[in-house]
Amino acid sequence: MGWPVMHSRSPLMHNYWFEQEGLAGAYVPLAIEPENLAAALHALRPLGFAGCNLTIPHKLDAMTIVDEVDEVAERIGAISCVVVRRDGTLFGTNNDWFGFIHNLRQEQPEWRADAGPVAVMGAGGGSRAVCYGLMQEGAEEIRLVNRTHSRAVAIAEEFGGPISVLPWEARHDALDDAALAVNATSQGMVGEPALDLRLDQLPPSALAADIIYTPLETPFLAAARERGNRTVNGLGMLLHQGLPAWKMWFGIEPVVTAELRDRMERSIAGQ
Ligand SMILES: NC(=O)c1ccc[n+]([C@@H]2O[C@H](COP(=O)([O-])OP(=O)(O)OC[C@H]3O[C@@H](n4cnc5c(N)ncnc54)[C@H](OP(=O)(O)O)[C@@H]3O)[C@@H](O)[C@H]2O)c1
Repeated sequence: MGWPVMHSRSPLMHNYWFEQEGLAGAYVPLAIEPENLAAALHALRPLGFAGCNLTIPHKLDAMTIVDEVDEVAERIGAISCVVVRRDGTLFGTNNDWFGFIHNLRQEQPEWRADAGPVAVMGAGGGSRAVCYGLMQEGAEEIRLVNRTHSRAVAIAEEFGGPISVLPWEARHDALDDAALAVNATSQGMVGEPALDLRLDQLPPSALAADIIYTPLETPFLAAARERGNRTVNGLGMLLHQGLPAWKMWFGIEPVVTAELRDRMERSIAGQ
């Protein structure tokens, strides 16, 4: 469910898994106007849905509509996945953090969250999931930088632990010594300008990750690749957040195959 939602690549991915798993069913985009979100969520059960994913602008509003929100969604502050339970009640969780971490693990198997400082640009919903995931994985130092300083401070205060906030003007210095740099802003997305970030202080051994997947290679990733850094794009985050959803909806653990990545990449490239 989203508004708008027809641009979503999620149906391609989930319907691939229906085919792979030999399960009769379908994943459909539901364009739901914000004022109809409660009615739409409550209609899931009578319509026979196992659940749904939520995207912009519903991730926050759903928190007060579902019957139970788990601790992960509470901490991240948004619901990405709703499950219709056997008794008909609605359960909300957030799988974006899982998607970010498991994509890094699949793409860069030697990656470790505690390998060194992590610089995270952005403090929106995506960044909250990234920070949560990095902390779950044992990151020891997260340097959080956001254009609007107060949003980054709010995350640091809520999450505590290894997060330190740097002013936006210091974003270039945040890369010094970093083992991982993450773009979790919307900058570099189709229709948006590139993230204004100089990479000269990023060590050659550092990994650069973006959570954006349209385009597949953002200017940030292209610049990192050109100077020899390893890069990971945001497509895998989308793919991997689907796995726990399937486990909860159907008790099935599908696989992010090379064929699935290829289909998604071709769909995005052909837009
Ligand atoms: N791969 C995935 O599965 C996945 C999951 C979630 C999100 N995403 C993608 O991640 C991106 C961010 O999503 P979101 O949900 O986190 O969005 P969001 O909550 O709206 O946050 C947007 C972030 O971008 C920053 N920003 C916006 N304009 C900027 C500018 N001109 N200069 C510097 N920073 C700017 C914002 O800073 P301020 O706080 O200063 O406004 C904020 O930190 C989107 O492209 C989204 O599609 C991908």
